[in-house]
Amino acid sequence: MKLWTCLGALWILSICSVQAAVDICSAKPKDLPLQPVCIYRNPNVHDHEAAPTEKPAVKVLEKASEKAHGKMLEKIPESTNPRVYELSKANGRFALSLFKQLSKGKPHEENIFMSPLSISTAFAMTKLGACNSTLEQIMKVFEFDTIKEKTSDQVHFFFAKLNCRLYRKKHNTVELVSANRLFGEQSLNINENFQNISEVVYGAKLMPLNFKEKPEISRLKINQWISEKTKGKINDTLPQGSIDATAVMVLVNTIYFKGQWKNKFDKKDVMSLQFHVSSTKKCQVHMMYKEAKFQYKKFPEDKVKVLELPYNGGGISMVLVLPMKDSNLTEVEKIITYSKLTNWTNTMSETTVAVQIPRFRIEDSFSLKEKMRDMGLNHLFSAEHASLPGIVEGVDNGIYISDAYHKAFLEVNEEGSEAAAATAVVALGRSLNVNRESFVANKPFLLFIREATINTIIFAGRISNPCKSG
Ligand SMILES: *[C@@H]1O[C@H](CO)[C@@H](O)[C@H](O)[C@H]1NC(C)=O
Ligand SMILES: *[C@@H]1O[C@H](CO)[C@@H](O)[C@H](O)[C@H]1NC(C)=O
Ligand SMILES: *[C@@H]1O[C@H](CO)[C@@H](O)[C@H](O)[C@H]1NC(C)=O
Ligand SMILES: *[C@@H]1O[C@H](CO)[C@@H](O)[C@H](O)[C@H]1NC(C)=O
Ligand SMILES: *[C@@H]1O[C@H](CO)[C@@H](O)[C@H](O)[C@H]1NC(C)=O
Repeated sequence: MKLWTCLGALWILSICSVQAAVDICSAKPKDLPLQPVCIYRNPNVHDHEAAPTEKPAVKVLEKASEKAHGKMLEKIPESTNPRVYELSKANGRFALSLFKQLSKGKPHEENIFMSPLSISTAFAMTKLGACNSTLEQIMKVFEFDTIKEKTSDQVHFFFAKLNCRLYRKKHNTVELVSANRLFGEQSLNINENFQNISEVVYGAKLMPLNFKEKPEISRLKINQWISEKTKGKINDTLPQGSIDATAVMVLVNTIYFKGQWKNKFDKKDVMSLQFHVSSTKKCQVHMMYKEAKFQYKKFPEDKVKVLELPYNGGGISMVLVLPMKDSNLTEVEKIITYSKLTNWTNTMSETTVAVQIPRFRIEDSFSLKEKMRDMGLNHLFSAEHASLPGIVEGVDNGIYISDAYHKAFLEVNEEGSEAAAATAVVALGRSLNVNRESFVANKPFLLFIREATINTIIFAGRISNPCKSG
């Protein structure tokens, strides 16, 4: 039964809940009343593919040429909705900008790990209720303004489709769990349509909490919900003291991934070796070794080697970007863009490579509020400027997102990612065949976990110091 029918048939509520009515993974746009309360149009992007007539700003030009280039090289992958593909590319551009933003704010010896896709998804949920400059900033920062009008209006629908593609795949060997939710002060009068759509599309209604009188209990409730949603894999997302009585709305976004390598590393080939954190600092890691055929290529002009390690099932893989001898990660971070990364991965080819990568475990969490502000998303977090009429009814101002948090976790070992491993370490080194291509990740490198057919970046990170764990 479709939602339309449900809306007309209020008297049979008991047999007509939204969840029962709409399976978002098989729904058509017309099945959902996804009319945004407000829309924003980028004057340079049109549905009819006409080139921008006016001279756009430099940043727009870059984007336009990235797009044009993409069109030359890429065909839309089979059985992929072109709009989902377009959204995935917008998310990819955001992923790299966010990565660069995080890298600017951290010493180069520190690791970074996050899921840009789940962050985009979480903020798309706020776009559903946003107007005016608040909406415009969301559209720009998340690059939704680079996609065509219809797609950007219905971005929620295409997010749902993208997430269906990633999360609903049934493979025992790949586990991808994400939990996004808005938590609101209980005295707010939440728009019912917003509640319904968030539930159908994003999997959770806004949860009312008593921030004003019980901030600490509210914090624990949020952490508990996340822990339940992620099957106990992500605990304590909100640190102590992060919620106080002034909280209005809190956005939380967490993601957990577990995969097994298609080609497992042999436990007998784990060696204790040095990792060069910087030119002056070294540390000891458990280095895994495998020689096999992988998608791989050297790019001497960019001074990087790029290698893809596939997971078993789900089309998900890990892409590693390693600076060559005469370069380092700082240099690579300067040149990398989404288009460059796409170029690299598109031109890799099957090669026999001797691979050495360390075992490691990273957990990273940060205040999204701070990072998003640095990227130009200010008004959503401002009591004075936020415009969210589609979320809260009856009040024009004072409603804003008071905090936003992100937490992601990854473990890499012989089996894959996040599998418990207790392994004896063989201390003997093994000399690599000098005639082989080799990929020796014994110094800081970048990693991306992606869905390869549609090139969706699920996670992005930098491993500068794997020694703290693993
Ligand atoms: C939201 O869903 C409920 C039932 O699940 C329904 O009764 C209500 O009419 C819906 N509201 C809107 C505004 O769509
Ligand atoms: C999270 O907490 C639960 C319950 O206390 C516990 O069983 C689980 O091991 C914890 N998970 C992690 C990753 O620490
Ligand atoms: C990376 O290389 C550049 C240029 O050679 C150098 O200036 C910089 O200090 C290096 N950075 C690190 C972290 O080693
Ligand atoms: C991607 O590759 C094409 C063709 O090899 C090249 O013309 C283009 O400049 C590359 N883009 C980037 C950002 O490196
Ligand atoms: C949005 O802007 C318009 C005109 O700039 C203004 O009239 C309206 O009140 C604003 N709406 C909200 C919800 O802030």
